[in-house]
Amino acid sequence: MLVDPSPFHAFELAGWERAAQHYGDAFGPLTIQTADALLEAVGAAGGKRLLDVASGPGFIAAAAAGRGAIVVGLDFAGAMVAAARARYPAIDFREGDAEALPFDGSSFDAVTMNFGMLHLARPDMAIAEARRVLRPGGRYAFTVWAGPDKAIGFGMALRAIETLGNKDVPLPEGPPFFRFSDAGATRRTLEQAGFAEVAVHELPLTWHLASADAAFEAFSHGGVRTAAVLRAQTPAALAAIGAAVRRGVEEYAKDGAYLVPMPAILASAVRLG
Ligand SMILES: C[S@@+](CC[C@H](N)C(=O)[O-])C[C@H]1O[C@@H](n2cnc3c(N)ncnc32)[C@H](O)[C@@H]1O
Repeated sequence: MLVDPSPFHAFELAGWERAAQHYGDAFGPLTIQTADALLEAVGAAGGKRLLDVASGPGFIAAAAAGRGAIVVGLDFAGAMVAAARARYPAIDFREGDAEALPFDGSSFDAVTMNFGMLHLARPDMAIAEARRVLRPGGRYAFTVWAGPDKAIGFGMALRAIETLGNKDVPLPEGPPFFRFSDAGATRRTLEQAGFAEVAVHELPLTWHLASADAAFEAFSHGGVRTAAVLRAQTPAALAAIGAAVRRGVEEYAKDGAYLVPMPAILASAVRLG
């Protein structure tokens, strides 16, 4: 737990306001690959009230609406909410904080969060909030990236920063990026939060990149923590890191594109009482 979560929360908020215009194109085709498994895990179907927290450009909310669910998407970045409304004008997107959900208790049958957990200053608070707004019997599911040894794109970027640049740049301290990549830790966290029937699976996502530079571009402009670390590098270090990531991606060339393994962890659970 962070001593003072406010600096990291403010850093993430500013980062997402800045990244909103790039994120959808940079990561959307990758993160949407979890939609079926995530929505199956919460039983998203006709008439179910579903809240998608940290909804970003709205891909999961739209997929849930496509299954007939009654959907609300919630994100704390105004620019993300605007982007989601522009893409999916028929869906109800609202601005709000995962750590203090602006809904009454027992308001939803299902709560989802796709790749939001690792951006929160207080993820345990967000999990408690998800449980509060679920009705008894309601289902919760979230995804995070697998660790950098498996999520190859992240591994490449982090290794290149560590060996060719400076990874210890002064950023507000946040929770460990890969905390929920560990199945046992995730299971314990959900059980301690009062959830039952906890299940944790790995999903085999693949990053389809049109060019060998696309991964480095995505890390530079489409996210927050890694983008901030990259911005803090010297020009020479940044060029070396970019070249190393490009060479790493080139190893995954296939039929004129690049297919980089980026597995995710899907955790799901039920609110019983
Ligand atoms: C990696 S993006 C995921 C977007 C989307 N769920 C997807 O599947 O592509 C993380 C999103 O979480 C949002 N976010 C981060 N912290 C948040 C918080 N405390 N409350 C609500 N949204 C938050 C960001 O604004 C951003 O849109």
